[in-house]
Amino acid sequence: MPSAAQDVRVGKYNGPGGCASSSCHGSIQPKQITRVSQNEYSIWVGQDKHARAFQVLSNPVSLRIAKILKLGRPDQEPKCLACHALSVPAAERAESFELNDGVSCESCHGPASGWLGPHTVKDWPHERSVAELGMIDLRDVAVRSHICLHCHLGTVEKFVDHQMIAAGHPDLTFELNLFSAVMPRHWKDSKEVGYSGTKEWAVGQSMQLRDSLARLARRARSSTWPEYAEYDCFACHHSLTKPEESWRLTSDSYYAGRKAGAPAWNASRYIAFRYAAKEADAATAAKLESEISALASLMGQLNGDKEQIAVTAERAEELSGTLAHELNSRSYDQVFTLRVMRGIAGDARAISEQGQRAAEQAAMTLDSLFVAYKQNGSVPNDTELRAAINQLFQQLDSPSAYSAPRFAAQMQKVSALLAQETAKP
Ligand code: HEC
Ligand code: HEC
Ligand code: HEC
Ligand code: HEC
Repeated sequence: MPSAAQDVRVGKYNGPGGCASSSCHGSIQPKQITRVSQNEYSIWVGQDKHARAFQVLSNPVSLRIAKILKLGRPDQEPKCLACHALSVPAAERAESFELNDGVSCESCHGPASGWLGPHTVKDWPHERSVAELGMIDLRDVAVRSHICLHCHLGTVEKFVDHQMIAAGHPDLTFELNLFSAVMPRHWKDSKEVGYSGTKEWAVGQSMQLRDSLARLARRARSSTWPEYAEYDCFACHHSLTKPEESWRLTSDSYYAGRKAGAPAWNASRYIAFRYAAKEADAATAAKLESEISALASLMGQLNGDKEQIAVTAERAEELSGTLAHELNSRSYDQVFTLRVMRGIAGDARAISEQGQRAAEQAAMTLDSLFVAYKQNGSVPNDTELRAAINQLFQQLDSPSAYSAPRFAAQMQKVSALLAQETAKP
């Protein structure tokens, strides 16, 4: 239980120590007697990379990033702490607060000082913690995605740009359902939501598209434009081959709508999502499709008009937000899950020619949706499908050598296996 000495004002951050006791969230084994398992702290501290996000800032890669960018010590640098720690203003820190706890409970759940006491009372409603005491409603999948994307995509205040990537920072890619499994999850999926994995994927994709379009608009209007991280990385970073062996030159569509040699926009956050958009709301999806293709063609000019790029991105952002709202309130089933998987695997060529990052989103999507699809037990060709999806990831291992025809051929195998499935509503 929280001690009286703890600050109980709404909006202050306590740090994870306040949640660690074995009678709170620090149990080693999951408990069955309470609604939550009470081992959340143990999972976070023992298995979750977020607990080590601060330590990462003193490893050799971080020190080199800081040296190249001419920054101070990365573990004292606000530019890095913004995402690698619970980096909040001094006035919002309670006494128990430690920066070196990394990305901790309150980075996602919100400042605890207000709800730390009340939320331990039996039958205390989660809704009141959210409405009155500063807790973030992570049960809402759209809110949850948006919180992850603060750090896994960036905001106005904190970002990873091409300069940081070129200095050694990993590029940020994300897919809510897969990343929640890798994290690993310290919560139970809601039983009321059927096919919650499909929902997580669909809402996560729409929010990711929405937030990335807002970022594009922001960057297009900034003085540092063009921002290379908004383009297809491997337009510039692929390995060169003889012209007759280049899949880019032998494809009919690779340079569609843009001049040879102009890098393409990185549309990967749209490529897999469009299949869910079509299923959910065909009219809005069609409007989005047309804004996205306008955006792709503006981005495909070497000197596309910055303001045009920004306003087109903002129109597409609004449509993605509408779709996010719809996807967050609809229900999901096995039929929806299979239809989206089939749609994606069936468009193997078109998707793979959108480049490595699009292929990566397609692979993460098929992986997530396959897990959701067979949640009620194994399916006829379970083993073959699992193996075929795993091989998609192998094709992404050396990104500069990515080959669209090879990836497409593997997707076609997945597609043929999916054709044998029958979904139950
Ligand atoms: C916008 C948020 C954000 C900012 C700002 C940021 N990072 Fe990161 N960083 C991340 C995320 C998210 C990951 C994990 C990426 C992944 O694996 O998908 C990461 C990963 C890393 C890694 C690789 C970690 C590993 O386990 O191998 C290093 C090193 C790193 N960051 C250093 C830095 C340094 C140094 C700075 C400051 C110059 C910085 N980061 C700023 C979000 C950020
Ligand atoms: C990277 C983000 C993140 C971090 C860090 C994090 N959580 Fe969570 N947590 C979530 C998400 C997402 C959920 C699922 C949504 C939900 O059920 O509220 C969740 C769910 C929970 C739940 C279940 C809530 C319920 O109503 O079923 C508990 C309890 C919890 N977290 C405690 C903790 C504790 C304690 C820590 C720190 C030791 C922590 N979390 C750190 C994201 C995070
Ligand atoms: C406050 C910033 C922040 C928030 C919010 C956040 N993350 Fe992270 N995340 C990071 C950083 C930084 C890393 C890199 C840590 C490391 O490598 O040790 C990371 C790493 C990860 C990794 C490991 C990636 C890998 O390559 O192994 C997963 C998975 C992940 N985050 C999932 C999530 C999910 C899901 C959410 C939302 C529920 C979330 N994160 C919210 C900052 C954040
Ligand atoms: C418009 C072209 C262009 C695009 C698009 C682009 N880059 Fe770069 N990148 C460059 C240039 C130019 C350099 C500096 C190369 C040099 O001087 O060696 C560079 C450097 C790098 C480096 C450091 C190279 C090294 O040897 O370690 C990395 C890593 C990198 N980019 C990753 C990416 C990623 C990831 C993306 C996509 C998010 C991307 N780049 C998009 C042009 C581009």
